[in-house]
Amino acid sequence: MEEKSLPKHIGIIMDGNGRWAKKRGLPRTAGHKAGAKAFREIIKHCHERKIRYLTVYAFSTENWKRPKEEVDAIMKLLGEYLDEAFQHEEENKEVCVKIIGNVKPLALELQEKIRRLEEQTAENRGITVNIALNYGGRDELVHGVKTLVQQIKDGELSVEDLDEERISRSLYTAGQPDPDLIIRPSGELRLSNFLIWQAAYSEFVFMDVLWPDFGAKELDQALEQYAGRSRRFGDVTAK
Ligand code: FPP
Repeated sequence: MEEKSLPKHIGIIMDGNGRWAKKRGLPRTAGHKAGAKAFREIIKHCHERKIRYLTVYAFSTENWKRPKEEVDAIMKLLGEYLDEAFQHEEENKEVCVKIIGNVKPLALELQEKIRRLEEQTAENRGITVNIALNYGGRDELVHGVKTLVQQIKDGELSVEDLDEERISRSLYTAGQPDPDLIIRPSGELRLSNFLIWQAAYSEFVFMDVLWPDFGAKELDQALEQYAGRSRRFGDVTAK
């Protein structure tokens, strides 16, 4: 595919793990395990297709409402992914991992793994993978607004200087391009508090497949749909 018609940044809402497990008579946690495998594969596929940024929704600020056993299982899978990525440094040398979200309520051990992996991969330039963890778009905006208000109070910023660019830079995705394409598998048609500021001009692709079954073929279908869209950003001619 021509580079021009490729998205620079893809966001994915990894939805449908529970239904995938239910269909097979398995516990929901088995669905998350299969979802974590699909996540590892999709990083490779995105990198091969020269996508520069990938943001996945792994755990929302609302997901704490789930049974403790399920929350623990998701956190464990994340910990395993972080360990593995850290150990296979050579294999992952093109991948820069960032966690976006409020990590403070997470177990200290998990926070430490996050810190180490972010530090180890900070200079990797192939693909940046943002894992949204304890993430909510509104929570991110509250966090950003508090930072900006503090800067105003401290005299580092004036109210007149506040603009869209400043707000973008106060978010967890500071310095990254906005997502061009947001993919939601599993048949649900909503954004669920994912990248709400950054998605202002994103193209959306909704698919019926459940996340653990999402692979290279589904990614290519989404990319094809994206390439056929006309992005005008409020203008009359396509950009
Ligand atoms: C949504 O499906 C999925 C989640 C809330 C968790 C996503 C977690 C993973 C893919 C595994 C861990 C992640 C990484 C990055 C290693 P759902 O449970 O809401 O599915 P349902 O709608 O079918 O019930």
